[in-house]
Amino acid sequence: MSNDNLGKKEFKKPEIAPDVWRDGEFIKWDDARVHVMAHVLHYGSSVFEGIRTYRTRRGPAVFRLREHMQRLLNSAKIYRMEHPWKLAQLCDATVELVRRSGLQQCYVRPIMFRTLDEERPAFGVNPFPNPMTCYIGAWDWGKYLGEEAIEHGVDVCVSSWNRLTPNSMPAMAKSGANYMNSQLIKMEALLNGFAEGIALDDRGYVSEGSGENIFLVTGDIVLTPPLSSSILPGITRDSVIQICEELGITVKERTIQRAALYVADELFFSGTAAEITPIRSVDRITVGQGGRGPITEKIQKRFFEITKGERPAPGNWLTYTNKANTSSPSDGKSFSTAALESETAAIIVKSA
Ligand SMILES: Cc1ncc(COP(=O)(O)O)c(C=O)c1O
Repeated sequence: MSNDNLGKKEFKKPEIAPDVWRDGEFIKWDDARVHVMAHVLHYGSSVFEGIRTYRTRRGPAVFRLREHMQRLLNSAKIYRMEHPWKLAQLCDATVELVRRSGLQQCYVRPIMFRTLDEERPAFGVNPFPNPMTCYIGAWDWGKYLGEEAIEHGVDVCVSSWNRLTPNSMPAMAKSGANYMNSQLIKMEALLNGFAEGIALDDRGYVSEGSGENIFLVTGDIVLTPPLSSSILPGITRDSVIQICEELGITVKERTIQRAALYVADELFFSGTAAEITPIRSVDRITVGQGGRGPITEKIQKRFFEITKGERPAPGNWLTYTNKANTSSPSDGKSFSTAALESETAAIIVKSA
């Protein structure tokens, strides 16, 4: 079977920021290149982030910048990546990049990886001889699962691929290599006519989508898998949890069986790219009424009001990039699920 049409049709070149931040300076997009023998290309040694900048009345605003950059530093720490970059520097670089780009809304992609020292090349698996480098680029990216999906939801499947096991590849780290697993999940879903796949963890409990966390609504309670189900500690997930608390909706972290997906009243994905996307069917079984449910809609509405700067967030979530408006990245409410009855004791983001 040909894969030619999958993800390739309706190609529209995104608007791209002309500058890229590299190791403390701005370079041109065309100069942001690496050697083909860079360690990262062969052994997957990168960690990265995906951050959205929203259009607001006060100009572009980066959503939860500090939390994303802290997760980047955490991912690097897990992989013993020694580097000179500090939280404030990465946040400032992002603000400057967005400002220079002139884009009113964009997706920001910081990436740190092990490259090639051309004076003292090293080609083995051992990553230690390979120097670290860090880039931040940005482009305008529309709705990840399609414009329609936000309102009408997506049709998804449970993947035959399991999510990574905690003691093989830590899902807590947002590493490039983890996305080989995500690609298997995504390709299988697309080839079978679904928009996305949901992976189970190695015990058979619901984990997450290839690039999204998942929430289940049963009655008036919202459930989401805990970190021990091999999930990425999503920043949108944390935002949903805080929004639920603000809206007076009970939200709990619980291990979730596959069958619970089929009988849920509502399901939705959360993620920087996917934002809050309802799920209307799983394995061709209709979820609830087969569209966006009322609780999902309520949470989604609040989320978009916050990201557009129309309503105050539960914490200092927006970093405005226009000079007149510049605000420091969030040092407000910490990004932590400590308030939830998590079965995994994990402080996701410690203070810098
Ligand atoms: C595997 C995976 N899970 C969850 C998420 C959602 O995380 P966040 O809300 O921080 O974007 C992402 C997206 O980055 C992801 O790739």
